[in-house]
Amino acid sequence: MTWALARDLPHHVGIIMDGNGRWATLRGEQREAGHKAGSAAVRRVVRAARRLGIGALTLYAFSEQNWGRPGGEVDALMGLLEEFLRSERGEILENGIRLVGIGDLSRLPEHVRHALDPLARDSEANRGMTLALALSYGAREEIAEVARKLALDAKEGRLDPRQIDANVIAARMPSLSVGEPDLILRTGGEQRLSNFLLYGAANAELVFSEKLWPDFDEADLFEAIHVYQQRMKSQVP
Ligand code: IPE
Ligand code: IPE
Ligand code: MG
Repeated sequence: MTWALARDLPHHVGIIMDGNGRWATLRGEQREAGHKAGSAAVRRVVRAARRLGIGALTLYAFSEQNWGRPGGEVDALMGLLEEFLRSERGEILENGIRLVGIGDLSRLPEHVRHALDPLARDSEANRGMTLALALSYGAREEIAEVARKLALDAKEGRLDPRQIDANVIAARMPSLSVGEPDLILRTGGEQRLSNFLLYGAANAELVFSEKLWPDFDEADLFEAIHVYQQRMKSQVP
């Protein structure tokens, strides 16, 4: 199946990994069990994307708004995040993956930063695929941060405000350092962006899957990319 996907491969894919809680509830388990199973799905999908030759994968792992969830659930998510970073470190480095964190990383607990920061540093020169983890991320907050920095630069005379246009803003966005997302995929059946990559989403294809994230696998990723490719084919040049 893989060969058929080689044409019109999206360069940058963003995924809103949704449905962990419902997956667990359906099984009569705690939401945390869904996040654990979701973490295994992340491993599968990162491997599949790397094998496929996707240039950049941005995974929405924890939103700015997710800080509002019960403390126990937030702690469980942070624990799983640290575990993911530690257990995948070897494979990420061996496979030439560059790992970056986007979002307000200063809000993350220290135990996560201790796993995240060295991996980001040690994988910085890798060119195989960029894996961007959106952590404590909100697109409106990202836009506000860029606006704040532009205003400061203008105030301090480093920037002529008349030069600010859409490209200047995009160039300062951490979420777009790997280019605009070509495809944004959301699992779990909801059809909204939930504050993910809003600025970059301007021209992205949106694909929604009914599958709950813990059930999402390689074949589902291929199917979403196939949908993207069909849309590319039918676009008027
Ligand atoms: C997505 O699954 C994971 C995070 C938001 C961290 P949810 O936890 O939102 O699962 P549902 O949407 O309640 O099923
Ligand atoms: C979006 O899912 C955030 C992540 C996948 C990390 P949510 O479940 O938090 O979003 P809403 O509440 O459905 O908008
Ligand atoms: Mg959800």
